[in-house]
Amino acid sequence: MPKNILHMLTPHKHVSPFDVNQALDAGYDSVTPYEQVELDEVADLVQDVIFSRPPDHGTSSAIFFGGDDAVLALDMIDTAKNALVPPFTCNIMADPAGSFTTAAAMVAKVEKALKEKSGTELKDTTIAVFGATGVVGYCAAVIAAMEGAKVKIVGYSGVARVQSRADEMKQRFDVDVEAVDGSSDEKNTAIIADVEVILSAAKAGVRVLSLDQLKSASKLLVAADVNAVPPLGLEGIDVMDDAAEIEGTKAVGIGALATGVFKSKTEYGLLRQMIDAEEGQVLDFRHAFELARKLVNEG
Ligand SMILES: NC(=O)c1ccc[n+]([C@@H]2O[C@H](COP(=O)([O-])OP(=O)(O)OC[C@H]3O[C@@H](n4cnc5c(N)ncnc54)[C@H](OP(=O)(O)O)[C@@H]3O)[C@@H](O)[C@H]2O)c1
Repeated sequence: MPKNILHMLTPHKHVSPFDVNQALDAGYDSVTPYEQVELDEVADLVQDVIFSRPPDHGTSSAIFFGGDDAVLALDMIDTAKNALVPPFTCNIMADPAGSFTTAAAMVAKVEKALKEKSGTELKDTTIAVFGATGVVGYCAAVIAAMEGAKVKIVGYSGVARVQSRADEMKQRFDVDVEAVDGSSDEKNTAIIADVEVILSAAKAGVRVLSLDQLKSASKLLVAADVNAVPPLGLEGIDVMDDAAEIEGTKAVGIGALATGVFKSKTEYGLLRQMIDAEEGQVLDFRHAFELARKLVNEG
């Protein structure tokens, strides 16, 4: 049997130890880091991987892209895919800063809570995403928009940077996402007055909304926060909360660790999917959401 070998590429100085552990636990025999990799180096590395083994051993090799930039990771996936020379192949996956699997798990948890608590579908909601210039928020916004939700991405520093993210989402994924100005508490309170869902993916240790603000959001059904570092992103939602009632509201909250469990299961599951594959896999946040949704629904 050929060894299962994972080549882990990052544009950064280090690959993520989290990802290394996940890959070895999922069953890879070997994980090799490649650091400070640039986009124009990806094709040569991929071809070195695929030509070293006979085509029927292709799926025993895999390339994993890390980093902390969703768009660059997606560009690296596309470059790797285009560098394959059938029948020579390998598996390809990205999860920069754990963002693809975290965003997938967060949206899947919210989807389940919406259905169970109020019989509401994602597509029938308006969602405010905080932290959408970051990797997790960016992917969560795109997944929710692809599922048909009306998505607002909130810019804490004004509308300009989130507008350029919204334009990029339209160009790359053909989704319409509204950029809104969240540069003051008053503006954020006005934004959440009109939403059924809040996704909070801001920087670790940053409080995005107070409990009083959540209490004022009369349409709110579900709020999720992925920041596990105090102060938490959404006051009143504990890290362990798993569709727990938010005090003084009709809404339920999902905390960072309730999502984190499924984030880890999803990353492990995608790595395992590559090991078990008979045909080359190319896995991004859309595949992560498909798997996270299945895992969340199975409980
Ligand atoms: N629970 C889990 O399983 C899990 C897994 C991975 C990550 N996380 C958490 O998910 C969150 C997002 O991660 P990430 O990798 O996407 O982080 P990131 O790339 O640092 O992005 C964080 C976002 O927060 C924004 N931000 C910075 N300061 C802010 C402020 N004062 N108010 C509001 N927003 C602010 C950033 O804006 P700028 O563009 O200006 O920087 C960016 O949009 C973090 O809290 C991280 O710890 C959780």
